[in-house]
Amino acid sequence: MIAKANGRPRVGITGLGCYVPDRVLTNEELAELVDTSDEWITTRTGIKERRIAAPEQAMSDLAEPACRAALAQAGVDPSEIDFLVLATVTPDMTFPSTAAIVADRLGMPDAAAYDLSAGCTGFVYAVAQAHAMLASGLSRKALVVGGDVLSRILDWTDRSTLVLFGDGAGAVVMEPLEDGGGFLGFELGADGGGGVHLWLPGSGSRAFEDPEHHIKMNGREVFKFATRVLVHSAEALLDECGLGVDDVDVYVPHQANVRIIDHARRKLGIPEERTVVNVDRYGNTSSGSIPLALADAEQDGRLKAGELVLMTGMGAGLTWGSALIEWTRGIAQ
Ligand code: UT7
Repeated sequence: MIAKANGRPRVGITGLGCYVPDRVLTNEELAELVDTSDEWITTRTGIKERRIAAPEQAMSDLAEPACRAALAQAGVDPSEIDFLVLATVTPDMTFPSTAAIVADRLGMPDAAAYDLSAGCTGFVYAVAQAHAMLASGLSRKALVVGGDVLSRILDWTDRSTLVLFGDGAGAVVMEPLEDGGGFLGFELGADGGGGVHLWLPGSGSRAFEDPEHHIKMNGREVFKFATRVLVHSAEALLDECGLGVDDVDVYVPHQANVRIIDHARRKLGIPEERTVVNVDRYGNTSSGSIPLALADAEQDGRLKAGELVLMTGMGAGLTWGSALIEWTRGIAQ
């Protein structure tokens, strides 16, 4: 699906927050666990270190501080939130939803709350849903969370996946805006036929002869898919909105692999200095990746009011999604 956000009210991000666990796991430490090296991981992925949740930390424990930070920045009391959507593939448990747990902990008695599963694209999907709720008037103040604790579903003996992923979460408060700006459009898609290239067989109601409780990935296929959709989705959305790559001030791609990011931005024609990269410090945090990158860009002073921000995610499903937003808040305001 693809659509330009034509209507009124415009909807924007009014608060942004993130959280990563304290524990830093370096490439050198991974080289003591499996047959790999800092040199291989750095050259093939650009990742130097990632964060790993403490044994007692679950998804809700990462989401909660991220939400508190986003709410504080927006100046919104938790009780004002009427819609909470949390994108993750590693909820605390299948049910109750992690969103309901977080809403209860934060004190949101009036919020509809549920989880959304769209792999690493989850945050972009969730933002699009919140946008629809707010633009239609069904919601007045929404909280969107993206995050994962992928360390819990990694095979710690499989070097081909172990080195790629990390834990983290980000959250945004979304509200209707009085003036212009905010989201300009979305492009979202899914190709279930490619689902077997990145999956967790045995994690649901389908019976498998050989159930698997760890992430299984065909890295080369996902690489090809990623480089294709990051370019296609961004170009399609810019075109739909009557804009070009030169209009993009800040490009926030999913942080999976620096080679994928470089390929996409070169193909799109977006200069390196307009591209946000933090995969070196966090690895691939799945649904947490885009909000963590947004938060980094804001801390660096790169997100200024009036700037056009392009986000594109891709991941399990296989799914992809882009969102274009004219930034309306930030440290420059
Ligand atoms: O959100 C989406 C999540 N997934 C992704 O974004 C993953 C997309 N794919 C990728 O990023 C890349 O395909 C990888 C980083 C996973 C792999 O890089 P590659 O350049 O495609 O390597 P490869 O799979 O072609 O493997 C090259 C070699 C193989 O050895 P042989 O067969 O050539 O002897 C692998 O066994 O590298 C080996 N290898 C490793 N060696 C050292 C695979 N993983 C490792 C490792 N350390 N960690």
